Amino acid sequence: MESAQEFSVSELFSVEGKTILVTGGTSGLGLQMATGFLQNGARVVIASRKQANCDAALESLSALGEVHALAADVTSAAGRSSLVDFTTEKFGQLDVLVNNAGTNYAAQIEDYSDEAFEKVINTNVSAVFSLTRDLTPLLSKAATAESTARVINIGSMDGIHVPVVQRIPTFAYSASKASLHHLTKTLAIHLASKHIVVNAVAPGFFASKMTDYVFDHYLEDIEADCPLKRVGQPAEIVGIVVYLASRAGAYTNGTVIPVDGGCSISKGHRDWLD
Ligand SMILES: NC(=O)c1ccc[n+]([C@@H]2O[C@H](COP(=O)([O-])OP(=O)(O)OC[C@H]3O[C@@H](n4cnc5c(N)ncnc54)[C@H](OP(=O)(O)O)[C@@H]3O)[C@@H](O)[C@H]2O)c1
Repeated sequence: MESAQEFSVSELFSVEGKTILVTGGTSGLGLQMATGFLQNGARVVIASRKQANCDAALESLSALGEVHALAADVTSAAGRSSLVDFTTEKFGQLDVLVNNAGTNYAAQIEDYSDEAFEKVINTNVSAVFSLTRDLTPLLSKAATAESTARVINIGSMDGIHVPVVQRIPTFAYSASKASLHHLTKTLAIHLASKHIVVNAVAPGFFASKMTDYVFDHYLEDIEADCPLKRVGQPAEIVGIVVYLASRAGAYTNGTVIPVDGGCSISKGHRDWLD
């Protein structure tokens, strides 16, 4: 029986001293997660394609703690190896990998090219698999049966239901996120023997570069469609990843956790609820 002391929130949800890599950590949700991890004493590596984005994020984060920013494209083998090499040299192990980098593409079906479809699948699914595979040895070094290493995949409510904003279809995006949720479960089973747990978070609508356009054009509809009648706030995404990265999340494995105000279970019910 653990002592009452160990059930304090500060112990249970601590990420202090953990090494955490957040892909796409230079913007939107990833930047918010990196901020939350740093404010709670983790050592954080963020990565995204553009050096300018890395520089800007580093400037805003460096006062918060130990943070490193690498320009690396997760869809390229060279980009992934630079992340593996850096993490190996700097820390020798990795406690938490957050596969957050993602992309979207919206167009009517007749204009939806093969190249656009492939880019979304490559970024949102294939790169998550490849980077997780490449970092498994470093995650494994940090992991024990009691203190598991963590992979947190950022999926989407659009991988659970058919996207709400149907005026601009996002065929590849919703398919990619449904696929990522399933990949999460497959990886969870396979990496369990190495004491690595794998979970997905499925956000609803949060303000970011990715949602700029739909927020500008359809915010009223988006809010009306949500049971809570609002979009998500940064603390609500930071909270779930801190939980999954902490002692409290050590035994949670193979789940897809919606953080969407109930949107993914209520689509089409708007008239009944109002
Ligand atoms: N915002 C929402 O409402 C929402 C809802 C559900 C799910 N999500 C998911 O949340 C994650 C973050 O999205 P966001 O809304 O925060 O969008 P965002 O502000 O556009 O951020 C995307 C991040 O990913 C990076 N990135 C894109 N492609 C990359 C690549 N190939 N290699 C490395 N980094 C790459 C971008 O930086 P560079 O351009 O410098 O590469 C950027 O830092 C995504 O997986 C998204 O699908 C978001």
